[in-house]
Amino acid sequence: MRDADSKHTLRRRLLTARAEMGADRRAAAGRALRDALLDLPELEMAASVAAYASFGNEPDTHGLIFALWKRGTYVLLPRLLPDGDLDWASYEGPDSLAPRGAAEGDGGSGAPGMLEPTEPPRGPDAIKAADVILVPALAVDRTGMRLGRGGGSYDRALARVGPQILTIGLVYDEELVDRLPAEPHDRRLRAVVTPSRGLVRFP
Ligand SMILES: Nc1ncnc2c1ncn2[C@@H]1O[C@H](COP(=O)(O)OP(=O)(O)OP(=O)(O)O)[C@@H](O)[C@H]1O
Ligand SMILES: [Mg+2]
Repeated sequence: MRDADSKHTLRRRLLTARAEMGADRRAAAGRALRDALLDLPELEMAASVAAYASFGNEPDTHGLIFALWKRGTYVLLPRLLPDGDLDWASYEGPDSLAPRGAAEGDGGSGAPGMLEPTEPPRGPDAIKAADVILVPALAVDRTGMRLGRGGGSYDRALARVGPQILTIGLVYDEELVDRLPAEPHDRRLRAVVTPSRGLVRFP
């Protein structure tokens, strides 16, 4: 099986498993990830963090980004561009988020539940200013290889940042797996955080 095909099959399986989780588990996972990340020295030191507003069945990140912002960290959040690349804008509290597409006047009908920052977009290269990057993932393997939702958006965004930047995937415990398919464009992460294991760094 080609890697692109096996990714497709894996994604469906992982998304189904997430859909079967209750809201309690998503919220509890979000609290555990938040607590593990807020205690991380690199995040305490970071002036600027690129994060994301969770949606659907992802582990909740809203408490985390609120806490980072409250303690004075500059938080950047992505806006999905029509070509699948990511633009970035600052988070200025919960009122600075709106349904995806709302700014363009379609009321966010394109992606229900997805929230994006309403502050002025700073361009795809703005991610280069982040000291730490929090990355959504459906799964991460023991080498840092990551499976996303299939748009290649984070592969493009992470291609812009240097290898020294701490990139952290956020997943449920069972989504830290032994091996994922890898294509040449796939970018590895430096670390992953799960609710039970906390932060796991890759060699
Ligand atoms: N740097 C790039 N420039 C243009 N297209 C790219 C780039 N990187 C990846 N892509 C495209 O994105 C598609 C999806 O990639 P992939 O299956 O790795 O998604 P993913 O990593 O799961 O998604 P995401 O990064 O959005 O979470 C690939 O088929 C590839 O053509
Ligand atoms: Mg990829």
